[in-house]
Amino acid sequence: MSTDLIEAVPVPIIIVNRERRIVSLNGFARSLYGADMAGRHYMTIIREPFCVQQIEAAVTGRQTHPAELRRRVDERERIFSLTAAPWSEGGAIVTLIDETEAHDAERMRSDFVANVSHELKTPLTALRGLIETLSGAAQNDAEARVRFLAMMAEETERMHRLVSDLLSLNRLEDADVVTRNDRIDLCEIIAAARQSLSDSAAARGISIVLEGCHEPVPLHGDSDQLRQVFNNLVENAIKYGEENGTVTIAVSHEKYDPLLRGPAIRAAVTDDGRGIGQEHLARLTERFYRVDRHRSRQIGGTGLGLAIVKHIVRRHRGWFRIASQVGKGSTFTVLLPAD
Ligand SMILES: Nc1ncnc2c1ncn2[C@@H]1O[C@H](COP(=O)(O)OP(=O)(O)OP(=O)(O)O)[C@@H](O)[C@H]1O
Ligand SMILES: [Mg+2]
Repeated sequence: MSTDLIEAVPVPIIIVNRERRIVSLNGFARSLYGADMAGRHYMTIIREPFCVQQIEAAVTGRQTHPAELRRRVDERERIFSLTAAPWSEGGAIVTLIDETEAHDAERMRSDFVANVSHELKTPLTALRGLIETLSGAAQNDAEARVRFLAMMAEETERMHRLVSDLLSLNRLEDADVVTRNDRIDLCEIIAAARQSLSDSAAARGISIVLEGCHEPVPLHGDSDQLRQVFNNLVENAIKYGEENGTVTIAVSHEKYDPLLRGPAIRAAVTDDGRGIGQEHLARLTERFYRVDRHRSRQIGGTGLGLAIVKHIVRRHRGWFRIASQVGKGSTFTVLLPAD
C-alpha cells in the first residue's frame, strides 16, 4: 500500500504481515505507539483479546468486527474503535478511530438524565409522604395540615424551579433561539435583580452594595437574560455568603480589555463567605455541579444557576470568571463587550 496514502489518512494505521509483524505505521500510529515499532510482533502493542481476535481474523481471511481499544494519551484514557481488514499482500491493515468524544457525550447525557431524575425524585418522594400523612393520620389535625401544606408548597416550588431552569438552559443551548440585542442599561438590570432579592438578603442580615452605578451603563444585550445572570450571582452570594456580611456588585467600564480586544463592561459580584476550593473552580459551571451537595440541597440549590450564567454570558460574546479564596470569599466577574 502506498506510504503516501497511509500517511495522508488522519487516523492511526498499522500494517501487519502474515507473520504478525508490523510492517509500517503512519505518523498518527507512531505518535500513539512510538517510532520504533516496525518489525515487532503486533502483540507488543495491541493485547486486548477481542482486538487480537479481529486482527487474527483479518490475517486469516475471516469476517471481522470493530473492537474497542483503550490507550492512555497525554495523561488521559482515550477510547478507539479498532477495525482490521485483510491486506492484499497477506496480513492485516489495522485502523484506529478515536471515539473518546462520542463516549464522553454519551456519558454526559446519561449522567444528565440520572441527575434530573434524582433531583425530581427527591421532592416527589417528600410530596408523596406528605399527601399520605395528610390523607391518613393528620386528616383532622388542623395545625398539621397548615404545616404540611407549607412543606408541600416548598417542594412544589423546588420542582417548578428545576423545570424552569432546565427549560432556560435548553433554550440557551438552542442555536436557533435568538438573544435580543437591545440597547439597555446594565445598572438598571442589576438594581432590579438586587431589589427582587432584598427579602432573602435581609433574612440573612446581608447588605448589598452597588458600586459604579452613578450614571447609566449602556450596552447591547438581552435584558431578561442579563437580569437572570445577576439574579443567579447575587442569589448565590446571599445563599453562600457570610451571615450579616456584605455583597458588593462593582460595575466598571474598561476602555480596552485584552480578553475582549475592545471596550468592555465589567461587573463583579463579591461576597465574604466561606469561599470555594481551587479544585472546584473549573467545574462550577457544569450542570448540577455543587461543592457540597448536601449543604446546597438543604438551602435549595440544584447546581444549574452558574451553568445558565455561563451560557448567557457566552451568548453575549463575553467572559465569565470565578476567583475565590477559602475562608475569605468569592468574586464572580462578568465581562461584556461595550459599545
Ligand atoms: N458565592 C458562592 N460562594 C461559595 N460557593 C458558591 C458560591 N456560588 C456558588 N457556589 C457553589 O457553586 C455551586 C454551583 O452554583 P449554582 O448557582 O450553579 O448552583 P446552586 O446555587 O447550588 O443551585 P441553583 O443556582 O440551581 O439554585 C453551589 O452549589 C455552591 O457549592
Ligand atoms: Mg445558584
